[in-house]
Amino acid sequence: MKRKKITVIGAGFTGATAAFLLAQKELGDVVLVDIPEAENPTKGKALDMWEAAPVQGYDSYVKGTSNYEDTKDSDLVIITAGVARKPGMSRDDLVQINQKVMKSVSAQIKQYSPNSIILVLTNPVDAMTYTVFKETGFPKTRVIGQSGVLDTARFCAFVAEELNVSVKDIKGFVLGGHGDTMVPLVRYSYAGGIPLEKLISSDRLQAIVERTRVGGGEIVNLLGNGSAYYAPAAALVEMAEAIMKDQKRILPSIAYLEGEYGYDGIYLGVPTILGANGIEKIFELDLTEEERAALNVSAQSVRDVMSVLV
Ligand code: APR
Repeated sequence: MKRKKITVIGAGFTGATAAFLLAQKELGDVVLVDIPEAENPTKGKALDMWEAAPVQGYDSYVKGTSNYEDTKDSDLVIITAGVARKPGMSRDDLVQINQKVMKSVSAQIKQYSPNSIILVLTNPVDAMTYTVFKETGFPKTRVIGQSGVLDTARFCAFVAEELNVSVKDIKGFVLGGHGDTMVPLVRYSYAGGIPLEKLISSDRLQAIVERTRVGGGEIVNLLGNGSAYYAPAAALVEMAEAIMKDQKRILPSIAYLEGEYGYDGIYLGVPTILGANGIEKIFELDLTEEERAALNVSAQSVRDVMSVLV
């Protein structure tokens, strides 16, 4: 059987970190792609990872390139390409710049890997996933955005720290958009099977929820230059593993909604089953009034960003 192939577009901090994790998990051979101006550093990063293979004991080959022919017939394509917001750049400018990037990479994916599943990380992720969906014309099950896995991971990390217990025993649950507008469903979150509400005071839980909401910003402030990449890359790779191994994991994905939760024609974070076919199912849950209101805010903010798309 042929070895699986995964392309990572954007060989920056997140893309390179994701590529290294994918190789370490031997989820497939990895092709790391960036723009022609960045070809040498991209080749350098890939070669460096391949040279780590004998030490780490993985057989996944890692190739760096700016030539999309090298990506031909990828099973999975991960998009981390894009530009971060710089001083003086409005949010709308950022949306349009990254939209252009999505359009150009979508054309290449469509040409070289028409049967691939696509995972999008580039921000603003809901609108960028929508752009890739429209530009490739791929079925909605094969164009998926990442945000909830990361938001949940941040939430679980803070809860584990609060309780001084293993992260392995914490299960969180997040709906909606990324970061500021995420909707954490605390009543579906557990430590060792025990509802968190029984273990942590509501004040402390609320503080953890708030910290999770601004989790991306906390890292940006600490780094001083650039945004988080270890946890985002780990989140991507968890989704990639679910798909490549057909694990049927229940994970939050940014999925295209056509009536689910009462929304139509937008990408929003919802609980899904991820497997070899991409998004294999969307779970619809009954929401409390408060949760519904928060999800509406989230959906509206996605629509606001989408209205800037050209
Ligand atoms: N094709 C391929 N690569 C591109 C393109 C393009 N058209 N345009 C930009 N890139 C590359 C850049 O050259 C750079 O190497 O995308 C990479 C982005 O990497 P970083 O600047 O290091 O950004 P990173 O921190 O990895 O974040 C990437 O993920 O979390 C989100 O908001 C973040 O949208 C951002 C993305």
